[in-house]
Amino acid sequence: MMSNDVTLLAIESSCDETAAAVVRNGREVLSDIISSQIDIHTLYGGVVPEIASRKHVEAVVPCVEQALREAGVTLSGLDGVAVTCGPGLVGALLVGVSFAKAFAYSAGLPLVGVHHIDGHISACYIEEPSLEPPFLCLVASGGHSHLVRVADYGVYEILGQTRDDAAGEAFDKVARALGLGYPGGPAVDRAAREGNDTAYAFPQAKISEGGYDFSFSGLKSAVLNELNRQRMAGEEPRVSDIAASFQRAVVEVLTEHLLAAAEETGIRTLAIAGGVASNSCLRERLETACAERGLTFIRPRPVLCTDNAAMIGAAGYYAYLRGVRSDLALNAEPNLSLGTRERRYHAGKQT
Ligand code: KG4
Ligand code: ZN
Repeated sequence: MMSNDVTLLAIESSCDETAAAVVRNGREVLSDIISSQIDIHTLYGGVVPEIASRKHVEAVVPCVEQALREAGVTLSGLDGVAVTCGPGLVGALLVGVSFAKAFAYSAGLPLVGVHHIDGHISACYIEEPSLEPPFLCLVASGGHSHLVRVADYGVYEILGQTRDDAAGEAFDKVARALGLGYPGGPAVDRAAREGNDTAYAFPQAKISEGGYDFSFSGLKSAVLNELNRQRMAGEEPRVSDIAASFQRAVVEVLTEHLLAAAEETGIRTLAIAGGVASNSCLRERLETACAERGLTFIRPRPVLCTDNAAMIGAAGYYAYLRGVRSDLALNAEPNLSLGTRERRYHAGKQT
């Protein structure tokens, strides 16, 4: 009997995780394999692109084999291959893209190139099977911070974005300065639990004329200056207080922007995605704020927030349904933008 099910093999290799997953109908995760390179990059205090590419080459075949085995799916059970084609580190992306092209070609399967941020947002469909657009999503990762109106599947209107560092990047840089190591987000999150979040009044990451845009570089500099001042004064740096105060400043601006956008657009379903969405303080703050306002709040479990291939399978499914097919000319695009429908909102006006 013919089935209407669509089962995709999904591959993600844009940064420092090699990941493969088998996803049915965009929401049912049959397997989700992540091979992390964190241990090796930790030695260098951050991701070394050349090492990342080489590690992807080693890991991609075993990851895919394990994903198929755990899902109990053979080639004949697959309907297509979805792969992250950008944005990200070009050498890292190329490994996944090249593998996916070869795999799809030899198996006679259609290929679907997926935008990494489309993937992060689509993790919300896995977390909440009843979720449908429209909704608002705050996507905050190591490379991106976007406030997005999800108009339809794969159709994004960017309401605000970072002017400089991404939120995750700010966490990573502050963690490094505090001696907390890499990756910084989880380390700051942990250290902040022991600290006083009102110990320092760091500047908020707001832009006065920027609508929903963010800027984290001023906040980051203020933290580094305070740390230097303490060191110069011969004081023992108050690491957990600084971490907690910094984290509060980031969480405040992200929360305020998301809530203000909900108010302005009248959209009552809010979501968060990307690595920073696993931050415990951000999750709690939004959970409370949404409950108080009667808004629906979707927060993917942490393993769906950080890089994974299941989210690529979810985004790939909706692209597949829209008829998106990539050919063998599919390339890694390190600076791929999030769709062509980017418009900016400010005080209700579109410019
Ligand atoms: O989405 P992701 O895994 O990779 C990119 O697409 O960049 O995000 C990684 C980023 C890193 O900057 C990491 O420090 C941050 O997410 N992150 C966190 C937490 N867990 C990961 N930031 C704050 N709190 C966390 N618990
Ligand atoms: Zn990511």
